[in-house]
Amino acid sequence: MHEADSPSSQDPAPGAGHGAVTVVSGGSRGLGLAVVERLLERGDRVATFSRRGSEGLGALARRHGDRLLHRAVDAADPGALRHFVAEACDAFGTIDHCVANAAVAAEGVLATMPDADIDAMLGVNLRGSIVLVRECVRRFLARPAAAGPRPPGSASVVVVSSIVAARGSPGLAVYAATKAGLEGFARALSRELGPRGIRVNAVAPGFLATELSASLPDEQRARIVRRTPLGRLGEPADVVGAIAFLTGADAAFLTGVTLTVDGGGAT
Ligand SMILES: NC(=O)c1ccc[n+]([C@@H]2O[C@H](COP(=O)([O-])OP(=O)(O)OC[C@H]3O[C@@H](n4cnc5c(N)ncnc54)[C@H](OP(=O)(O)O)[C@@H]3O)[C@@H](O)[C@H]2O)c1
Repeated sequence: MHEADSPSSQDPAPGAGHGAVTVVSGGSRGLGLAVVERLLERGDRVATFSRRGSEGLGALARRHGDRLLHRAVDAADPGALRHFVAEACDAFGTIDHCVANAAVAAEGVLATMPDADIDAMLGVNLRGSIVLVRECVRRFLARPAAAGPRPPGSASVVVVSSIVAARGSPGLAVYAATKAGLEGFARALSRELGPRGIRVNAVAPGFLATELSASLPDEQRARIVRRTPLGRLGEPADVVGAIAFLTGADAAFLTGVTLTVDGGGAT
């Protein structure tokens, strides 16, 4: 766990928030960091990983102390993911939600894309998310008696897809394949786990102003803004609410859906 500071005024009062334990992959920056912050603010205990730490995570650790656990883990390594989930469960006693957010995007036309780039995207975005979700689902299903009974629908998985999965984009075919794969995974898993009271949904953001999209040429960026009804590129803060909603009690009867958060959709 990050070095714990004394509780601050930003921490919810004891008993406030719903105190769920949520695993978030890729929490060091961009959307993942914003999700970690929002979930900590609502009272969750959050376990997150990325390959490296970040200033943003350090600041959250100082503010929220023992409710945040961060480890350096490569999502391409299934053994490391297994170990991370076991450690999170040991630290917090249970796991209630899993947000599979970590991803990499290598741009380039398929004809010249090296195997290494294809492997990296499949390994992190698809296999890494699937293995992480599997490890969390094992914990959902083996909830310790000490953690008390779980109301149906209160455990959930959210996979972070992309609008590119449904719409496509030149230079992002392999990335789109990983995201479309994740959406199919979520839909099928929602059917498998619904009878066990576990919900599985996807969130598909439009283009966001983060490091992942930093290489987007200005011209393409301007075109997306022009064609988006709400007239701007998204920010992580625009997507966090959808993830908080899907992992919250208000979504207790919602499973198997992909929530698109893209300002109305660039055509
Ligand atoms: N940005 C967009 O335009 C956009 C649009 C639609 C959907 N999305 C999706 O939204 C999610 C978040 O994207 P973002 O824009 O916030 O990306 P980002 O700013 O690049 O952040 C990605 C996060 O994932 C972590 N990560 C990457 N590779 C990893 C690995 N091998 N092992 C462990 N952690 C890894 C990164 O940390 P380290 O590098 O330290 O490992 C970082 O914390 C992704 O699923 C992305 O596909 C993004």
